[in-house]
Amino acid sequence: MTTPAEQPHEAPAARDFPLRRTCPFAPPAAYAELRAEQPVAPVTLPTGRPAWVVTRYEDVRELLADPRASADIRRPAFPALGEGEQEVGARLRPFIRTDAPEHTRYRRMLLPEFTVRRVRAMRPAVQALVDELVDTMLAGGAPADFVPLYANAVSTSVICELLGIPRENLEFFRDVTRISGSRHSTAEQVSEALGGLFALLTDLIRAREKDPGDDLLSRLVVQHLRTGALTLPELLSTVGITINAGRETSTNMLALSTLLLLRRPDLVAELRADPALMPAAVDELLRVMSIADSIPLRVAAEDIDIPGGTLPRDEGVIALLAGANHDPEQFAHPERVDFHRPSNHHVAFGYGVHQCIGQHLARLELEVALGTLIRRVPTLRLAEPDAEVAFKHDSATFGIERLMVAW
Ligand code: HEM
Repeated sequence: MTTPAEQPHEAPAARDFPLRRTCPFAPPAAYAELRAEQPVAPVTLPTGRPAWVVTRYEDVRELLADPRASADIRRPAFPALGEGEQEVGARLRPFIRTDAPEHTRYRRMLLPEFTVRRVRAMRPAVQALVDELVDTMLAGGAPADFVPLYANAVSTSVICELLGIPRENLEFFRDVTRISGSRHSTAEQVSEALGGLFALLTDLIRAREKDPGDDLLSRLVVQHLRTGALTLPELLSTVGITINAGRETSTNMLALSTLLLLRRPDLVAELRADPALMPAAVDELLRVMSIADSIPLRVAAEDIDIPGGTLPRDEGVIALLAGANHDPEQFAHPERVDFHRPSNHHVAFGYGVHQCIGQHLARLELEVALGTLIRRVPTLRLAEPDAEVAFKHDSATFGIERLMVAW
């Protein structure tokens, strides 16, 4: 007879990943179990490959701050959620999926464009865009689908404003991001969608070479393409990832936040009574929703010990941001939406060297777009039964497919 201590250690069964949200404003319920019982847990990805997931706040931050956690998409164990993503990513090498020193080179080029000062200077332009889009939505009459008409239109218009790209391509950008961000897209579909984007950007770059303006694309052309610091494919990949990373995320945050506020008039009343609460409210919404939950994909380049366990060398790991942002050790009553949290050091924008470069811009967009809706469309309401709101369960960031509203 064997005593319990002598029994062979049973490896825990791997769960299928991603897990599905049951409440759109909270992580999948199993994250709480994982945090409590298996802080470093094995999973099977949709590609059939194995990986680990990490769910505790402390572990997520340690992992993302560790230089041995590689973001290099060319590594065979890279835990991509779709085949297309890895194959195309390994070819195009967007800087979000590279390591130092390569990553540092791109990050240094872009950082001056995303400082608090530069983003603050964009506020009047963002406000003007948002006002125009509210006018257009109202003029079109109710019921209206909030996602393309407002959430996507705001995020895409802001990126176009930043880069100096004409705004007539809203739908085109939406399709590119939808295809390149879907787990079900094949490498061919991703390549084709990005090829269309790159063709459009190449024309714009050629025009800027002849006649530069006062925008991000012109500055990248003048300071980095003309000097030979960046090749054309490198510039295309950098601008492409900025568009992709900045559009879908902000669209989803804006649509989900609006749905939450429609369900919680008490929170809207708080914001109406004290508009200065808006920045704290935006950060709390970012924490609660944690829409970019499984964006930080890494490979352990060495064995990495974190408080919750060991990540074995050459194996993939996903730092689950929603797990960290709902860790009760860090956030009291994490499920509560509380615009008055005394400290809110959430990781909705990631952590470490890859932490979202566009975070100040994202906050600005959300503050202006939500604040303007509350002020200008006080009668906004859902125009379909709650159960019919369609969510994006299969895209890189969680969001809403369609949200019918009236006013
Ligand atoms: C609510 C909106 C947003 C959320 C939740 C979000 C989330 C994130 C997260 C979690 C990462 C880190 C990925 C990792 O560690 O692997 C990231 C990186 C990045 N984000 Fe955002 N993002 C948002 C908006 C934006 C915007 C508006 C832009 C640009 C206009 C942007 C551009 C980028 C870029 C270029 C990176 C890569 C940074 C690097 O690797 O150094 N994001 N974002």
